[in-house]
Amino acid sequence: MHNLIAANWKMNPISQEEARNLFNSIKKGIGSAQAEVVICPPFLYLPAIAEGNGGLALGAQNIFWEEKGAFTGEISGAMLKDLGVEYVIIGHSERRKYFGETDEIVNKKIKKALESGLKVIFCIGETAEERDAGKKNKILERQIKNGLADIENWKLKIENLAIAYEPVWAIGTGNNCSVEETKESIDYIRNLLALSHAEGVNTRILYGGSVKSENSGDYIKNAGANGLLVGGASLNAEEFIKIVTSAE
Ligand code: PGA
Repeated sequence: MHNLIAANWKMNPISQEEARNLFNSIKKGIGSAQAEVVICPPFLYLPAIAEGNGGLALGAQNIFWEEKGAFTGEISGAMLKDLGVEYVIIGHSERRKYFGETDEIVNKKIKKALESGLKVIFCIGETAEERDAGKKNKILERQIKNGLADIENWKLKIENLAIAYEPVWAIGTGNNCSVEETKESIDYIRNLLALSHAEGVNTRILYGGSVKSENSGDYIKNAGANGLLVGGASLNAEEFIKIVTSAE
């Protein structure tokens, strides 16, 4: 399985034209990269980008856990699939923090996404306070256990699920987690997955949090990461292309 490099554009850029230009520059620069690359723009830009995606996978940044009906403002897995979307990010710390997403909500969304045939990038990670209080492993264990509760083994095949380890204190701060600490957490997560789900042992585990081209290769080569979830640096085509190349 190739390394997975995901671009999380969050709520950027602010026009369709910029979104299309950014996407086209990334597509052009990536050429025949070995890594699997997935671009996760805001929902609104997905149709325009899907038309000329040229082999780059598309991802959504959110999903709702019902298929259709009276859920104002929501978007379902069936709708995303219909557009040709392959991946969805679930459990991102910004959704947990600003939109009150609990482990239970995250679990419902993961189940629905897998049922809809989407691949999931499931984000977990501890806050600075939790880390300082020595609770990191407990938090990671809780998020994994609850997030993946009642999901059948076969649905967690390697191609269906990736876990993104994103320490909350490292996101958007420029303060990326050290390779040593990341390795410890990735090893811990891998062990947990192996214990809870037979298929979990092969799950791709990504690192995210202030990834840039100067540090990206190190996570792949020395921390045991099978990919990266890139926020800020994915808005700069040249920088993002360097990150993708570093993951080969
Ligand atoms: P960042 O964001 O690369 O800007 O730190 C990562 C993320 O939130 O997924």
